[in-house]
Amino acid sequence: MSRLQTIESWQNLKNRYEETKNLHIKDLFSIDPNRFEKYSVEVGDILFDFSKNRIDDKTLSTFQELYAQLNFRKKLNAMFKGEKINNTERRSVLHTALRNFTGEPVYVDGVNVMNQISDVLHQMKKFVHSIHSGEKLGFSGKRFTDIVNIGIGGSDLGPAMACAALKPYAKYGIQAHFVSNVDSSDIAETLKIVDPETTLFIIASKTFTTQETNRNAVSARKWFLSKTGDNQEHIAKHFIALSTNELAVRDFGIDPENMFEFWNWVGGRYSIWSAIGISIALFVGWDNFEALLKGAQAMDEHFREADLTQNAPMMMATLSVWYSNFFNAHSQAIIPYNYYLNRFPAFLQQLEMESNGKSYSKTGTKLDYYTAPVIWGEAGTNAQHSFFQLLHQGSRFIPVDILAAVNNPNPIENHQAMLFSNVIAQSEALMNGKSLDDAKRELRINGLSDEDVNFLAPHKSFEGNKPTTTILFKSLTPEVLGSLIAAYEHKVFVQGIIWDINSFDQWGVELGKQLAGQILPKLNLLDVEPDRDASTNALIKYYNYHKK
Ligand code: F6P
Repeated sequence: MSRLQTIESWQNLKNRYEETKNLHIKDLFSIDPNRFEKYSVEVGDILFDFSKNRIDDKTLSTFQELYAQLNFRKKLNAMFKGEKINNTERRSVLHTALRNFTGEPVYVDGVNVMNQISDVLHQMKKFVHSIHSGEKLGFSGKRFTDIVNIGIGGSDLGPAMACAALKPYAKYGIQAHFVSNVDSSDIAETLKIVDPETTLFIIASKTFTTQETNRNAVSARKWFLSKTGDNQEHIAKHFIALSTNELAVRDFGIDPENMFEFWNWVGGRYSIWSAIGISIALFVGWDNFEALLKGAQAMDEHFREADLTQNAPMMMATLSVWYSNFFNAHSQAIIPYNYYLNRFPAFLQQLEMESNGKSYSKTGTKLDYYTAPVIWGEAGTNAQHSFFQLLHQGSRFIPVDILAAVNNPNPIENHQAMLFSNVIAQSEALMNGKSLDDAKRELRINGLSDEDVNFLAPHKSFEGNKPTTTILFKSLTPEVLGSLIAAYEHKVFVQGIIWDINSFDQWGVELGKQLAGQILPKLNLLDVEPDRDASTNALIKYYNYHKK
């Protein structure tokens, strides 16, 4: 049996589930009119409303006991203090240090990493200014107009999501492009629209050994040289690297002068705050990048200080565990009602699923409970016209996070009011549903026969009692975005503490990578391989037969 199952409060949560599983959220509001005040939290310009969830005081106090029994505070401080909590890679986990403006030192192996961080921030700031001011120009003396970030996973999703989210803050007329996929169409489509004389290529890779990124970087370099007279010296002006691996950066042909360093205690999916964020700074300016970091820092402080019911990331994690492990929720939907947050669900997919998609405890015991749910989502209101049917009437239990800004940077007549009315309506509808009797009453009012009423009513009734967490913010500013990302990062950390897993490694992505490496040379051979199964051999043969 896993350690978690032996903890008394965990067993008490099972009882609590049995006692409360049939309670309806709308009844919880009738019982306790102060529910919203109790179960909502404001952090800076963000309001987290947890009150439309299937929780009550007793359940939360049982979680409170669980956190105490798990020594949660001690574990939280261990992360912020740089202890090597990533035990399978023997590394500290210090993305929080990257946005630490408190002046407090943070040590790894006796070294205050704040000095290195501030050096790189300084180097980044200088570089960003020199591009914006025109001090640094392309090889032909023209200003940079485009940046192409070549990276994948954490070296792509964070900056790509943030550049999309902060588009209204873009200045200096720089277009940001992101190439991640080894599918050649990704780089080809980007290279069709950029000008080699005015494009800066940013090779973003923590390890600098990632197959897709290296392949794309080589293709970009080849294209660049072919368009610029094959002059290797031009590379220095148009290629920079963001990495922890100086040797590989040199090997690729990028001068370490043009390398922005980060460190192995920054996880890929937590690296937006590091040099990996340089494309954000180039796109929206240094002041806005710094505001993003400061927003995250504000969330760090909140997370370190607030008690459970007033602690946004802890509440998010508590609800996720409550639903995953007791209500058997297999997935969690993320619905930003915000055009600019369209990449936020994809970013959270990596953050949550790569971090907590694990089946073994930190000490190597096979777990006997569920860990990370599937994270998925799409911007509203579009999502309402695709999968909301399933959220409302499907047979799965799916908690939903709804995110929305009150103010729109592009106000046009009543668009924003219409958008916002959908935010409110959906969380209300998911909670209230519509009873069979109400459905029948409505059909009768519309003049339907008894037979039609009885036939149609079940199809027109909604169970309701579907939990939502609504996260509202005044406007989607860089500070707000920083705080939101940090809230989800900490949610993932808290989940990992409860599930007793290392949220900071990702061994699960290795096997596919290894096999792809083995298969690549075989794609030119027609012979079947006796060691491979018939399906794999047939698929290889199909490729070889049909390729042009
Ligand atoms: O997919 C696995 C992974 O290691 C991610 O964790 C990481 O963000 C991504 O690949 C890219 O890695 P790198 O930045 O080293 O190229």
